[in-house]
Amino acid sequence: MSQLENNESLSYDTFAASVQRSQALEEDIRKNPQKHRVLTGDRPTGDLHIGHLFGSLLNRVKLAKLGVETFIVIADYQVLTDREVFDRISECTVNLALDYMAVGLDPDSGNVFIFPHSCAPELNQLLLPFLNLVSIPELERNPTVKEEIEAAKMARMNAGMFTYPVHQAADILFCKADTIPVGKDQLPHIELTRTIARRFNARYGAMKPIFPEPQGLLSNAPTILGLDGSQKMSKSRNNSIALKATEDETAKIIKTAKTDSDRNIAYDKANRPEVANLLEIASYASGIAPEKIAQDIGSGGAGKLKAFLTESLNEFLRPLRTRRAELEKNMDYVRKSIDKGAARAREIGAQTLGEVREAMNMYICRK
Ligand code: TRP
Repeated sequence: MSQLENNESLSYDTFAASVQRSQALEEDIRKNPQKHRVLTGDRPTGDLHIGHLFGSLLNRVKLAKLGVETFIVIADYQVLTDREVFDRISECTVNLALDYMAVGLDPDSGNVFIFPHSCAPELNQLLLPFLNLVSIPELERNPTVKEEIEAAKMARMNAGMFTYPVHQAADILFCKADTIPVGKDQLPHIELTRTIARRFNARYGAMKPIFPEPQGLLSNAPTILGLDGSQKMSKSRNNSIALKATEDETAKIIKTAKTDSDRNIAYDKANRPEVANLLEIASYASGIAPEKIAQDIGSGGAGKLKAFLTESLNEFLRPLRTRRAELEKNMDYVRKSIDKGAARAREIGAQTLGEVREAMNMYICRK
């Protein structure tokens, strides 16, 4: 580890700095979209829901429409870190791509590439050099991994779980992305990625730095709570509305959403989080400020709020659901789009891996 000790050690508590960098980055993207490359992604574990939509997906669509080159990784290897079930990974991968395309991420636009990381061996090979650039104590301190281990109730942590943030650094650096739209929970992984980029450049790229130091782009949307009032909307907790849910299913789930006993509807995040959450979702869907919606409903009670939410959300989701249904009839096109994304990822990955191996003085095989 002595080589690492010469470098500044990795610190994960840089939230304020991340926010500041994120704001500056956002401004520059608006001015110079062509200068940036976005990489972000998700694990293929289930259907995307409105929490994903308002929290991150719409932001990705906006960036892509600005013309920013956008890589979206379907992190299928990452699924294996905390579960043993793997029979549906391929199906979930295709479904996730379908959800992306339904929200408006268009692989035919020429600047959007959707690919599973297991399809890009060049990307995965970066993991080997990167593993030598971080210390075990640094990985042990990662707060997001700590939480995930707790949540997965693992008796013994596997090394895949322990090292997946390094793999995630490969997801980001293989294409030299500089802009990573993520939620707060992913910031430790980005900090690690920045550290790996810096150390790689310092150790092997003194003459010619290879990697940029990527930055997180934090979304302004506050986290959407689960409809049961719990801290997070998630499919496994049965408190979410999937993008692909029908209008009737949407109405039904909203009917069961938790509220409180005060008939008068008001927007009060601190004291009435469940009602505030419904007002916020209704606000995203309708474009009307939550305070105004609350005022209009007033003593109409939770029933009226839920009716308004159902109507505005279904209206917002209608074009997206229509597109989803159309795409679903043409799964071959969805698969072809993934294949195209993977081909581009491999091409860029091969280029980066070539530079990396050369910088490390590895033997270059003759064809
Ligand atoms: N860890 C992310 C999640 O669980 C998924 C992910 C994998 C990712 N690779 C990434 C996100 C690279 C951003 C950049 O949601």
